[in-house]
Amino acid sequence: MRRKLVAGNWKMHGSLAANQALLREVIPAVAALDCEVAVCVPFPYLAQARAMLEATPIAWGAQTVSEHGQGAYTGEVSAAMLLDFACRYVIVGHSERRSLYGESDAVVAAKFVAAVKAGLTPILCVGETLAEREAGVTEAVVARQLQAVIGAAGAAALGRAVVAYEPVWAIGTGRTATPQQAQEVHAFIRSLVAGHDTAVARSLRILYGGSVKPQNAAELFAMADIDGGLIGGASLVAADFAAICGAA
Ligand code: 13P
Repeated sequence: MRRKLVAGNWKMHGSLAANQALLREVIPAVAALDCEVAVCVPFPYLAQARAMLEATPIAWGAQTVSEHGQGAYTGEVSAAMLLDFACRYVIVGHSERRSLYGESDAVVAAKFVAAVKAGLTPILCVGETLAEREAGVTEAVVARQLQAVIGAAGAAALGRAVVAYEPVWAIGTGRTATPQQAQEVHAFIRSLVAGHDTAVARSLRILYGGSVKPQNAAELFAMADIDGGLIGGASLVAADFAAICGAA
């Protein structure tokens, strides 16, 4: 049985004061739940997240990581630096990183390798754009994104990772994939991984992300291959995030 994971992706939101208020509400609200809960915060708030969360079951992490170990890479943050702040998770290949910052499949794969090597658990994001869905190439796009990582890291490395299916057209749009649409892609992802390693495929947690709200979380999480969620906007509202965690 795969344990459900609900991870918040705060994106570029927050302040010391706002984060403190948010976490103060979230911590007690999710304390008794039996799903795993995590928050992926902007780099400057990792120390705050650690201080507030280290005595709780909530894990924390970052939203991207450098593919490089160290060196002349101005503005970048390495996996070792994230470990210094006791991060468990790091999001890799979010669609906003791919589309706004030009991260190719190869760069995403290199970041994934850097994260796994350091002992972080990458949350690898995959997903198609609206044009790609309408062109009927959803599976081809997701397969290409996954194969890049499997080629670079090996399928066994997925055993130390989480995959998040985030259809780009559902992110921040209020337009959620239906549970059936999401389940189809999740099942496809699991079968693709099973083609490499059945044990890894069976235990792999595949999260859904894209306009998850308290109103739609339960029906998404009830699907056979949906093992939790990666939550953007709703992770910034304590009551909504807690309700989504409760649905898992
Ligand atoms: P929303 O939940 O705001 O649609 O964002 C999803 C997402 O991108 C999480 O990584």
